[in-house]
Amino acid sequence: MDSVKNYINENKDRFIAELIELLKMPSISADAAYSQDVLNTADAVKNALEKAGCDKVEICETPGYPIVYGEKTIDPALPTVLVYGHYDVQPADPIELWESDPFEPVIKKTDIHPDGAIFARGACDDKGQMFMHVKALEYMVKNNVLPCNVKFMIEGEEEVGSESLSWFVKRNHEKLKNDIILISDTGMLANDTPSITTGLRGLSYVEVEVTSANRDLHSGLYGGAVANPINVLTKMIASLHGENNRVTIPHFYDKVEELSQAERDEMAKAPFSLEAYKKALDIDEVYGEKGYTTTERASIRPTLDVNGIWGGYTGQGAKTVIPSKAYAKISMRLVPNQDNREITELFTKHFESIAPAGVRVKVTPHHGGQGYVTPTDTPAYQAAVKACQASFGKEPIPVRSGGSIPIVALFEEELGSKSILLGFGLDSDAIHSPNEHYGIFNFLKGIETIPWFYHYFVNNK
Ligand code: BES
Ligand code: MN
Ligand code: MN
Repeated sequence: MDSVKNYINENKDRFIAELIELLKMPSISADAAYSQDVLNTADAVKNALEKAGCDKVEICETPGYPIVYGEKTIDPALPTVLVYGHYDVQPADPIELWESDPFEPVIKKTDIHPDGAIFARGACDDKGQMFMHVKALEYMVKNNVLPCNVKFMIEGEEEVGSESLSWFVKRNHEKLKNDIILISDTGMLANDTPSITTGLRGLSYVEVEVTSANRDLHSGLYGGAVANPINVLTKMIASLHGENNRVTIPHFYDKVEELSQAERDEMAKAPFSLEAYKKALDIDEVYGEKGYTTTERASIRPTLDVNGIWGGYTGQGAKTVIPSKAYAKISMRLVPNQDNREITELFTKHFESIAPAGVRVKVTPHHGGQGYVTPTDTPAYQAAVKACQASFGKEPIPVRSGGSIPIVALFEEELGSKSILLGFGLDSDAIHSPNEHYGIFNFLKGIETIPWFYHYFVNNK
């Protein structure tokens, strides 16, 4: 396994060039205008897996975008690692805020990435991270050091809720049988502070519509006499947070897992600078639920946020109008024991109950998912710890993340499999934002760490 560093040194320019080709493909799952690009990207991933040494690679059709599935079996008696990742990306907009074309990758140095970072949509989330696994497999196969069987399952709808992957997983228990799922679609604390993600938040996502009159009205003739749906919607939204910035939906916190003081103390040991955090975001103060630290608010506490709000006239100049409708998209990040369907129901009931007479409200649920916590007292987690020690020369810190990968809880439900979240992105990599990037250091470090995971997972099991 010690040859991994040499192999990376000899091949890194090619690895980067191959990743850049993949990043040129605009595989935006949310926008139907890119459907052919999404399909082409699936083919490119299939080719990459074949080239890396999988014996069987297939494009598995689903009701939506296909799953790219690959496997390399060396001995059925040995354990199997199932790698999950996604080849779809978020839309690039607002496009005018990108310093370079989101699908024409460029390498630039930054303060945090002195060795350079690749700027492109999907560079970190998740093409760059998924591709580390392809290149790690290539290394293990070419050098005859793959110690167990491996399966790849790369989907094309993660950014829109993984509906087709749920469909696929439910129908393919036998095919997907594994001993551990390995995922790089999260982050770590810093390039000199390796960490392993030990939890993800769940998600409940709804769209709300408030309707008043049956048509837009003159705000002089009707203003003051008829409910303005934007006024009403913003008032309703404002009431969703109360004292101490807590969510006011009845029973919202009922099932929230409360961490013990000892667990919170343990969490607080992870390095975190509030000053640096504020500076990086250009804010003079943080904001959130009273009684919790910034790190806690963004990981072990549930939240409610408006993601978008619209209605009425937003064009040039002024138009005096009371719109007929107003809309908002609202997400709730959930923590262990909160059930996303139950929270969606609680939200809906509450939102309907606070609507004043004079308007009608409609709540439409979007995708959602359960949170996840990785047990740390398992051979698989310990293998990930040892792998980081081998490649970084440092003990990784366990960190609960605030992000969501809803399919991870479904893997456990359907396949009975635990997942190891071995991510190499940084919070500053701007995933989902303009100028997303992924450090060359992080990309290569991931390729170096992954074979060590296989090694320790198989040899210490
Ligand atoms: N890779 C992210 C999730 C993530 C990023 C978790 C960083 C932890 C650290 C994933 O692609 C993502 O964006 N998930 C969505 C949810 C999905 C249902 C759209 C999210 O968290 O908003
Ligand atoms: Mn992702
Ligand atoms: Mn994402």
